[in-house]
Amino acid sequence: MPVFVNEKTKEFHLTNDAVSYIFCVMDHLWQLEHLYYGKKIRHRPSFRHLTERKKHGASANRLEGNHTSSLEYIKQEYPSYGTTDFRYPAFEIRDTIGSRIADFRYQGYQLKKGKPTLKGLPAVYVEDDNEADTLEIYLFDHVLEMQLILSYTIYAGCNVLTRHAVFTNRGRRHVYLNEAMSASVDFPDDHFEMVTLHGAWARENHVQVKPLAKGVQSVSSARGASSHQFNPFLALKRPEATERSGEVYGFSFVYSGNFLARAEVDNFQVTRVMMGINPFQFRWKLNPGETFVTPECVMVYSDQGLNGMSQTYHHLYRERLVRGVWRDKTRPVLFNSWEATYFKFDEEKILTLAKEAKNLGIELFVLDDGWFGNRNNDKSSLGDWTANLEKLPEGIKGLSEKIEALGMKFGLWFEPEMVNKDSDLYRRHPDWVIATPNRPMSHGRNQYVLDFSRDEVVETLFQAMCETIGSSKISYMKWDMNRNITEVFSRAWPKNQQGEVFHRYILGVYKLYEKLIEHFPAILFESCASGGGRFDPGMLYYAPQTWASDDTDAAERLKIQYGTSFVYPLSSIGSHVSAVPNHQAGRITPLHTRANVAYFGTFGYELDITLLSKDEKAVIRKQTAFFKEKRALIQFGRFYRLESPFESGQAAWMVVSADQKEALAGCYQMYARPNAPFSRIRLQGLDAGRLYQVDGYQETVYGDELMHAGLLLTESMLSSKKRPGDYASRLFSIRAVPD
Ligand code: DGJ
Repeated sequence: MPVFVNEKTKEFHLTNDAVSYIFCVMDHLWQLEHLYYGKKIRHRPSFRHLTERKKHGASANRLEGNHTSSLEYIKQEYPSYGTTDFRYPAFEIRDTIGSRIADFRYQGYQLKKGKPTLKGLPAVYVEDDNEADTLEIYLFDHVLEMQLILSYTIYAGCNVLTRHAVFTNRGRRHVYLNEAMSASVDFPDDHFEMVTLHGAWARENHVQVKPLAKGVQSVSSARGASSHQFNPFLALKRPEATERSGEVYGFSFVYSGNFLARAEVDNFQVTRVMMGINPFQFRWKLNPGETFVTPECVMVYSDQGLNGMSQTYHHLYRERLVRGVWRDKTRPVLFNSWEATYFKFDEEKILTLAKEAKNLGIELFVLDDGWFGNRNNDKSSLGDWTANLEKLPEGIKGLSEKIEALGMKFGLWFEPEMVNKDSDLYRRHPDWVIATPNRPMSHGRNQYVLDFSRDEVVETLFQAMCETIGSSKISYMKWDMNRNITEVFSRAWPKNQQGEVFHRYILGVYKLYEKLIEHFPAILFESCASGGGRFDPGMLYYAPQTWASDDTDAAERLKIQYGTSFVYPLSSIGSHVSAVPNHQAGRITPLHTRANVAYFGTFGYELDITLLSKDEKAVIRKQTAFFKEKRALIQFGRFYRLESPFESGQAAWMVVSADQKEALAGCYQMYARPNAPFSRIRLQGLDAGRLYQVDGYQETVYGDELMHAGLLLTESMLSSKKRPGDYASRLFSIRAVPD
């Protein structure tokens, strides 16, 4: 029974084999007090002995005559500001008299089998009600006449808890929600390091680890998208925790818009972690009878280090966030036309590329940007989703049929949220863009953002896309988004609701995705935002894979994919082999190293394959065949990070099948090291007592040897050449010797 409720003492214990999360209702105050979150502890009727009360030093107390009732010293579940707690709150409501004080008091609870959905929002789900239990805590503020429901779901047999909050206005006057976070946890100490993923265009998801300091530290986005700059993720790890061992608490936000992930350490070593919609630029008017649902925060407790946390996220997001027919299917090897042709192509060129792609064993041909309107550069045509007949005389219909006739599937690029001034859509509806009246409109890549907070805009785009998709043979769609939102303002909403535009915009994006999925359930969607500018769990609910970065350089990709794997499964990480010198970094890396990195993702090619030599084509044919053989292992196996590219010039990672009979390790060395020392890579996840054959080694070896003594890696293992040069790499296929 994963949720224990002590009705008498008003205590709640959510637990399974891995974690315990405990809180209670405070005596007299009727608010929620946090008691414990961490490794599973045995259940007992009461945990009240974990309550802490400070006798001296409070600057203000809540209860008259009681000097231990300062909320500043009480760990809470969903704190508010201004009633003796002076730290940042989880929410703020402005009422009709302008007050921002709230006092939500416990009213009751409800237990539900399974996990209810979050209306209009992405969220992890269950397929069977026995997979999880949900506890809803009902609170009420009598002055505001508002109800607050705090929702907690615990998955059985998995170290995951999800949280979100639901506000309902039960009064007769509107209020404003100035802030509504999804989760808040008060940890009793600050002995942590904070792990975040930061970046920029072409260098997404680099890993940052820094000790927690007193005060506030946070990552956030105010760009209208989750952003290249910071991923909506934060972990607290014990300083002694490593990739393989020690305590880590992960917080991941299932949302694609502005977010805030914050850790506040107070002067009594309490660490308050919060995650939710960024309150900056947010204000939501809640009319009588209306409800506001916050997005979901997914919390993972791992006692097996960072890698343990990542594996939980991988499993959960792959199996219970991604939906649809592609969830459990291996992904096709794809060819993407962008770096092969950019805007310059015609049907003949596309078909030549497609024939060659087919020849090389590629299964899906994706036509990227440039196929519609007068799109010959990035100055025009976004919004006009009809084929350019000068380039493609028989339109997308004709082209897709020809590609299917070659024995390949066909995929198409869209950027639905954007418009160029030079487009019919903009000429017809200049007021459909996000812009502040009487102020200049900033552009990004010459484009403007369509106001997706308006249903008619979403509907128009849906109809336009349906026309092309419905009349052609389209098996895959890449949904791109190439700029952030500026001068945020919607002409559709009154002045007192402009603070809703960012959130309503993302709800519009989700709406369009949902409609497309409903109409075209067989299509494989890949999300993209100038690479990984919106690589977040919210997107994965709609699109099973995301283009991780516009940077396809193998050395850069090692870092990007390594960091991305902190939260996201390999089956979601879009990764391609591209040309050298690389178009972003100018670097030349060997073809096999480019593939050895790109294999650990969804895998594809993005270069002009007609320019390759005979030998290179022969290598690529082998690569696609190899990937097809290994992709189930790669995309559905358990992923282990072995050596970090952020720490040395060497990196390694591996995947292991569920039955531990098969594994694949990738080892990479950035710079050649003449007369290098020996090195051993300690593998992971194998069956200690099993005998394995590692390719390249004559001796069979036991799992425990490979995991503890390690795989001996000499320079000659990385390359058959006497001088291997920079960017050497090697894959090791590992197979259990049959019993
Ligand atoms: C940005 C994407 O990240 C690229 O892969 C490509 O689709 C271009 N946009 C096309 O404009």
